[in-house]
Parts: sequence; structure tokens; C-alpha cells
Amino acid sequence: MIATVGRKAHFNAAHRLYRPDWSDARNESVFGKCNNPNYHGHNYELIAELTGPIDPETGYVFDIKHLSDLIEREVEARFDHKNLNLDCPEFAQLIPSAEHIAQVIWNLLRPHLPINLQLKITLYETPRNFVVYKGEQTH
Ligand code: NI
Repeated sequence: MIATVGRKAHFNAAHRLYRPDWSDARNESVFGKCNNPNYHGHNYELIAELTGPIDPETGYVFDIKHLSDLIEREVEARFDHKNLNLDCPEFAQLIPSAEHIAQVIWNLLRPHLPINLQLKITLYETPRNFVVYKGEQTH
């Protein structure tokens, strides 16, 4: 029997969406408010979901406490109250769009989780705007 378990988490971070190889006008036109030169913050809401078989011995798909600890260690400790562009090497060469942040989080968590569980990341950048990333391959 297959089920999905998930954990919600939260972090605050600043970013700027900007391409140095583009003109100021083009950056402004494409990225709008997220191109603000002095950065700006978002309250990111993260939902990490694991889908897989229910272990008949424990009744668990995965111990959510372990998922919670993993998110705290790999995501919150790394990104909470940081400037993603300046403080986080993950975004030194990568535009910190919500899509890219979701992908980076997926890549940070994936190696620590059982291979038979599918990982899905949902990241809200605002209460109404979110992205979903499930990795490059389908299981
Ligand atoms: Ni923004």
C-alpha cells in the first residue's frame, strides 16, 4: 500500500533576480520587483512530501521526525535569514528564482532519503505563488 507523508517548514530569505549579462532595462522588464538592486525578502513556505510503501512493521512510509530534522539541518540552517545571492554558494552562479530554490532543496534532501521513496518539493514564495519540483526522472 502506497501513501504520501509530508512536512511543512518555513524560512525567511532575501534575494535578487538579476542577470549581469543583461542591461538594467532588460532585468527590470523581465524580473520586475524581484530585480530590486538592494534585495528584498520573502517568507518561504516549504512542503516536502515522500511517497512510497507503508512499512508493515512500523505503519510508516517514513518517520516524519527524521524528515523534520533533515529539513532543519539541510534547508533551514542553510537558508533561513540569509541573503541567497550573497551568503549561499548554491546561488553564486544560479538565479535564486523559486524554481531554482525548489530544485536546490530537492538536491540537498534527496541523498539523505531512501531511494524507494519519491520526493516532491512544493515551495511558496508568496501565499499565492508556488512551484513544484519532483526531480528529473519519474519513478
Ligand atoms: Ni522576489
